[in-house]
Amino acid sequence: MSGLLLNNIASLYDPRDGERSGPLSILIEDGVISCIGSCAKIGNGVEVVDCSGLLAIPGFVDCHTHLLFAGSREQELYMRAAGRPYLEILESGGGIHNTVASVRAASEEELFGNGMRYLDQALTLGVTTVEIKSGYGLDFTNEEKMLKVCRRLDEAHPVDVVPTFLVHTVPKDRDRTDYLHEVEKRMIPAFRSLADWFDIFLEKGVFSLAESERLIEAAKREGYHIGFHTNQVNDLGGVGLAVRCGARHVNHLEVLTDEDADLIRRTDGLYPVFLPAAEGFVFSDHVGQFHKVRDLRERVVISSDFNPGSSPVLSPLFIITYTVLRYRADDPRLLINAYTANPAEMLYLSDRGRIAPGKKADLVLLDLAAVDQIPYLGTFDVIRYVIKNGSLADTGHQRKK
Ligand code: NIG
Ligand code: FE
Repeated sequence: MSGLLLNNIASLYDPRDGERSGPLSILIEDGVISCIGSCAKIGNGVEVVDCSGLLAIPGFVDCHTHLLFAGSREQELYMRAAGRPYLEILESGGGIHNTVASVRAASEEELFGNGMRYLDQALTLGVTTVEIKSGYGLDFTNEEKMLKVCRRLDEAHPVDVVPTFLVHTVPKDRDRTDYLHEVEKRMIPAFRSLADWFDIFLEKGVFSLAESERLIEAAKREGYHIGFHTNQVNDLGGVGLAVRCGARHVNHLEVLTDEDADLIRRTDGLYPVFLPAAEGFVFSDHVGQFHKVRDLRERVVISSDFNPGSSPVLSPLFIITYTVLRYRADDPRLLINAYTANPAEMLYLSDRGRIAPGKKADLVLLDLAAVDQIPYLGTFDVIRYVIKNGSLADTGHQRKK
């Protein structure tokens, strides 16, 4: 048996049971939390860590990322800063297409190396589970390459990886009708063994409502779970489609009518996912309609949307701070729920996202006095320990004894 005993924790926050003041200890056995409160060390194989002064929260579950890519696109940030819209850069052949060129040119090994480096960053920042989308290959070989690399990353890296097949846009070199046909008849069936999740970018100039519905239905027939990009710049009816097709999540929601917000509220099992950084970094005129669904305390979700274009950010603590600023979100506990237990349940990973006996020991220990300080001082160097599957991760930030 391997074990870890976290001693003298000043306080902890669990998204469902709330806060507990310490001093507390957490005993972890074989990667699972076995005791919270006053736990005794059992046997010699148990490492003891002093956590005095620290606040424990669950490891972050980043449920919407495009973490696997090659190249970088910083020039587009300054183009957008100077006033060029995100969708116009895409239409003119840049944006996603730039990353597609880099991903196609990269070998599987290069891509794997990039993924490992970004996952190292993610873990250091407190992310213990991450969803990663394909969508920068845009042909059979390169989409397959991306999804295979996602599987390899899951095996090779401590951070758990959830791969998603994303139909991101029509490649520049293909006829639209042909491409849609190939996605439906060849890619969707073939990639089912590599991914449990299916996503599509429903947006004006990218995929229409009818095209999205057709591909989502094909994906459902293969047994994928559905979650998709919608209502980012334009409202094309994505929320209605999500309800019709039994989607698990809808992402972006910068333009969201009151009726659609009510529809989300009434649809049990449909999670609204907000991506505030992707609003900021594209200088969006819209603001995610978080306030319309914030009463869904166990369903509202936030995520980094980490990608080389619209959101070059991986830090949950930064995103949480930015969520307060952008959405005037005034409840730090809700924001922790939205980055831990809620996305875990959304992804059908209810073994994590909590600090409770029997749950996976994925934890972050912060040098902060209280949950209220997370969005307030979280962008300081406050992460003292990250624990993944009951093992201390090497974040480079451990306390010097
Ligand atoms: O979630 N909106 C579409 N896709 C990504 C951006 C991808 C990119 O620009 O590379 C997003 O914002
Ligand atoms: Fe995205």
